[in-house]
Amino acid sequence: KKTLGELAEARGRYFGSATDNNPQFTNPDYLKILGEEFNHNVAGNALKWYATEPQRGVFDFTLADQIFDFARKHRQSFRGHTLIWHNQLPEWLTTTTWTADELRAVLKNHIFKVVKQYKGRILAWDVVNEAFNEDGTYRQTLFYNTLGPGYIADALRWAHQADPKAKLYLNDYNIEGIGPKSDAYYNLMKQLKKDRVPVHGLGVQGHLALQFGFPTTLRENLQRFADLGFDVAITELDIRMILPADDAKLATQAQWYADVTRACLAVRRCVGITVWDYTDKYSWIPQFFPGEGAAHPWDENLLRKPAYDAIKAVLRAG
Ligand code: G3I
Repeated sequence: KKTLGELAEARGRYFGSATDNNPQFTNPDYLKILGEEFNHNVAGNALKWYATEPQRGVFDFTLADQIFDFARKHRQSFRGHTLIWHNQLPEWLTTTTWTADELRAVLKNHIFKVVKQYKGRILAWDVVNEAFNEDGTYRQTLFYNTLGPGYIADALRWAHQADPKAKLYLNDYNIEGIGPKSDAYYNLMKQLKKDRVPVHGLGVQGHLALQFGFPTTLRENLQRFADLGFDVAITELDIRMILPADDAKLATQAQWYADVTRACLAVRRCVGITVWDYTDKYSWIPQFFPGEGAAHPWDENLLRKPAYDAIKAVLRAG
């Protein structure tokens, strides 16, 4: 009766879940499974900029610590998510017009304070999240617009100075298969490597949807980043469907979970898989995609779905 985490560990990988302070940390049944099944953990919101620096220069790690302490107690490695993202920024940051020099200083201070706070205790940081558009052009964010594309290399260098042992990742969605967006990461990371910028991995979020089809070039795509010398990880896996769920959809979903797991195991440098919370009960999806959901390996009642056994079967097999 091995857990997902134990089976993944036997394969030299981790199997993790994202979680959140509220309401997850008020539910003991939920926490029991979170603590038992997984050997890796990531705060779904608590390390985002709005949470860690709600006022300029005023840092708050209360929420992040609650999750971090749980992870440590359950011997789970921890992912830092995320230092730079265009969403969930504090109001003071988005309502000010910054010069490039000012914003650079604000960004550097944020990265140093947050990364040093957890120095030596975080396996990997998502340093920049969702930097590209679907067509592979840079997303026009506060950071890009004010600082230009060099903000990415700067952020990686600062994060590395603040915690030289943490693995530093770029992370995005819709980069599971080969295409313009994953090509943009391929080219950027190749260049960063050439410029000796500290970057260690690509996080492939893995927010999949049955109605869009499986990303059939997943393994090939992971492999090309590995061949460049980078680690890869599936960082936010969930597989949603148009509701209502039925047995056929849940069976297909299980197969997809198995296929993603198989793709990761086939690539030596794929270090682990994280589901973006493990239960439909606390899914982010219904709020963002009305009429869709049932995306996680446990259902609303914290009961295992076919996906759970399908993942395990792949982790067990030779
Ligand atoms: O904190 C407020 C609370 O005070 C208020 O009462 C409540 C009412 O709706 O909202 C709470 O804020 C919510 C926040 O999560 C914290 O729970 C926001 O409404 C909600 O929109 C926000 O959603 C998060 C989302 O990122 C924001 O874009 C999800 O929980 C989180 O799972 C999701 O995670 C992202 C990754 O960071 C990046 N990749 C995609 C992934 C899924 O969107």
